[in-house]
This record gives sequence, C-alpha cells and structure tokens, in this order.
Amino acid sequence: AANWKMNKTPTETKTFGAELRRILPKGRWCEIVLCMPAICIPAGVKALRDTRVSIGAENMYYETYGAYTGEISAPMLVDAGVKYVILGHSERRAMGETDGDINKKLIAALEAGLTPILCVGESLEQRKSGITFEHITMQLKQDFQNIPPEQLRRIVVAYEPIWAIGTGKTASAEQAQEVCEGIRAVIRKIYGARPARAVSILYGGSMNAKNCAGLLAQPDIDGGLIGGASLKPDFGQIVNA
Ligand code: 13P
Repeated sequence: AANWKMNKTPTETKTFGAELRRILPKGRWCEIVLCMPAICIPAGVKALRDTRVSIGAENMYYETYGAYTGEISAPMLVDAGVKYVILGHSERRAMGETDGDINKKLIAALEAGLTPILCVGESLEQRKSGITFEHITMQLKQDFQNIPPEQLRRIVVAYEPIWAIGTGKTASAEQAQEVCEGIRAVIRKIYGARPARAVSILYGGSMNAKNCAGLLAQPDIDGGLIGGASLKPDFGQIVNA
C-alpha cells in the first residue's frame, strides 16, 4: 500500500496512474492499494479503472453527514470508489487524534464497507525506554474497543515505528518482525487464533525497492505501507518484490 501523504495534484495522479499501468506489477497474488489525498481520488479511480490497483483515502471522519466543516465521511469515500482508508497514522495522531477517535473511525469505516489500515507504532523515546510493546498493546486495545472478531478480519494493521518514518532509518528486518509478531500475539489474545492468522500486518517506515525484500520475507510481515518511495513508479518494483 502506498501512502502519498500531502503529495501530488489530481493532474499528477493521472500521469502516475498512466505510468503505473505500463509497468503494472506482475504480482497477481497480492493486493495493491494507492492511498492518496481526497482531492486526487476521482483522478486515481479513473486512471486505474479495470486494474488490480485499489484506491484508498488517508483519513476520514466518523460521522456520516452533518455540520463538520472540512471533514469527509466513510459513505462519501465509498461512493467515490474508495476501498481502503488509513486510520490513526502517527502524523494524524501528532495533530491530536486520540485512540478514542480512531476507534470511532474504525467502526464507521467497517460499517460503510471500507477496509481500514490501522497504524500503530512507538516513538524513539518509547523504544529507548523499553515500552514499545506496552505502548502498541495499549493502542490496539483502545482502537479495537467494541469491534467483534468477524469484523477484525477485515482490518489491516500497519506497524510504523515513528522513528523510521521519512528518516531513511528503516527498522531492521528482525526489529520489525519482532513487533509484528507481538501485534499478532495481542490480536490472538483478544480475538483468538483464527482472526490472528487471518489479519494482514504491514510494515511501514522508509521501506524502498532496496530494503523491501528482507522485510517482506519475515513470517509476520504481510506487506508494506510505503510513503516516500511510493511517489515514483518504482513503487511497482516494491510490489513485484
Ligand atoms: P516513509 O516510507 O516515507 O518513511 O513513510 C512511511 C509512512 O508513514 C507510510 O504511512
């Protein structure tokens, strides 16, 4: 999954779509998602129609409609052709989004039929203090409040250590595997073995065409959430890897 963040205009989206189509990844067995700014979504949906690439949003609001100036709801995204939505990205948490908000957004996204990509991860201070697992367990427990096991299977979890985002400092394959394994264990504890096996866990944080193979080879890493390296068509190389 690509996370473009606040990059690309609708016109650039159209060009990217045409380029990606040409080198379209051979990986028929994997899901490909481009999460883009809301204003680019119509252009993205059009440019990648009839391909295996799904379009995702980077955020949404939990209410369906009403007086929430500037917000976009899950049913609006669905109507525009969106299949996935990133929720709880650390860049949004840093702007004040709480686990309570993220929980409400998860419930609203699932209700509308979207597949949420829930982001969790620790800061450098938390890692240094040895509380990575405690922090991520707490995030998961709060974000999953009132979400039943049959819904849990439809959620994708992305482990994104904050210190690895946009810094060029990727977590080592071992570090990333250790936390992703821990995330699966937390899910197993809350929901049981089957949902834990079924849930997709992505790694995100400076993943690129060079380092992706080692990360993706880990048993508990099912894919990537890619920021900077998803802005160029070599995103296709990552998909092929
Ligand atoms: P980078 O790949 O640019 O480090 O960003 C990762 C990320 O935040 C994806 O959501």
